[in-house]
Amino acid sequence: MSLSPIIKSYNCHHSHLLNQYRGVGTPKIHNGDEQQQQQQHTNTPILFTPIKVNDIILKNRIIVSPMCLYSCVDGEMNDFHLVHYGSLAKSGCAMIILEATAVLPNGRITYADSGLWKDSQIEPLKRIVHFIHNFGCYTAIQLSHAGVRGSSEIPFIQENQQQQLLKDTIKTWDTWNPNTMTLNDIKIVVESFQQSTRRAVEAGFDAIEINAAHGYLLCGFLSRTTNSRTDEYGGEFNNRIRLLLDIIKVVKIECCGSGNRDTNHNSSNAATEIPIFVRVSVVKEDIHSMDECIRLCEILKREGVRVIDWVSREPERVRATGILTSTVGNITNGHQAEQLLEQGKADFIMVGREHLKNFPLFTYNASKDLNVNINGAIPQYSSTFRD
Ligand SMILES: Cc1cc2nc3c(=O)[nH]c(=O)nc-3n(C[C@H](O)[C@H](O)[C@H](O)COP(=O)(O)O)c2cc1C
Repeated sequence: MSLSPIIKSYNCHHSHLLNQYRGVGTPKIHNGDEQQQQQQHTNTPILFTPIKVNDIILKNRIIVSPMCLYSCVDGEMNDFHLVHYGSLAKSGCAMIILEATAVLPNGRITYADSGLWKDSQIEPLKRIVHFIHNFGCYTAIQLSHAGVRGSSEIPFIQENQQQQLLKDTIKTWDTWNPNTMTLNDIKIVVESFQQSTRRAVEAGFDAIEINAAHGYLLCGFLSRTTNSRTDEYGGEFNNRIRLLLDIIKVVKIECCGSGNRDTNHNSSNAATEIPIFVRVSVVKEDIHSMDECIRLCEILKREGVRVIDWVSREPERVRATGILTSTVGNITNGHQAEQLLEQGKADFIMVGREHLKNFPLFTYNASKDLNVNINGAIPQYSSTFRD
């Protein structure tokens, strides 16, 4: 990729952002594995050490975990999302993964989910991405199909969280499940992931995340108990991962950049210009085992996926496969995040709820915990933050 928009903006209009680590020296850029050795020779906590993912350089290791806001109309984001994600970007995190965004209308969890199944949904996202970029923060979008978990009520409207709604022509739809989907339905899903990726790239996203976790459609195909198909998409491990691999293949085509979609980029393990992340979870040891997940991560690495967004325990086992790995779950402060990185469990820290509880100050508070000065990230507020 030519100079990314972020680096350009650093160089042109936001050169002050380069000073955000002042007091701790020039940040070194690491490629995952080098981090522990390098840290012994520098005072910069790993959490605030930049890291390269393909052509983008994240300024620290803090990523906002994808979190549904259930506030869209017909899949379109609006001013609420601009302010929400914009505030998080100002807080100093390196990347925000925008919430689960449905590749098809029947791939939404609720009728108020974000979507990228049609071109008119690109423009509102473009505005948000552009705004986030002004703060030296990168963007990813999580593309998802909810499968059997779709057609639900908005959790904060109904106490009984995410209960499926009774038939209602406006708010509900027939959900797809791995066992009843026809080969044509599968083809539609694969094509939809490709088209949604094309739209995400057009909106300016810096990375694409595929959601294969949390019991949604792709996770449903991976699992031995929820997938009882007898064709090439069910049964043995290689069949159950086939849908995800089909999707990765077409997503890669769109992530290779316009005018550069040559066959080399489509071959296994070729670095796509726009990095692909995959969110993976172990559902239960007996149905979607840790060993199978690790095998899956190895295959995803070979297929050119750059980051595994691992939402289960033992992230170090994923990282041992040599793929960039993130960990998430109950991380509430800088010390805890730094410890996970120091122990070599992950390359990135994703933080979900703590970003909302201390909205939007998680990164700022973590910098205080670790005695790093990032005040320059929000120069307009720096007088307030000076101690
Ligand atoms: C309100 C809310 C919405 C969420 N939406 C998504 C989502 O869109 N996609 C996803 O993969 N996970 C989603 N999650 C899970 C989070 O990304 C994260 O993995 C989880 O909350 C654990 O991290 P935490 O302890 O830092 O919150 C959501 C969590 C919350 C609390």
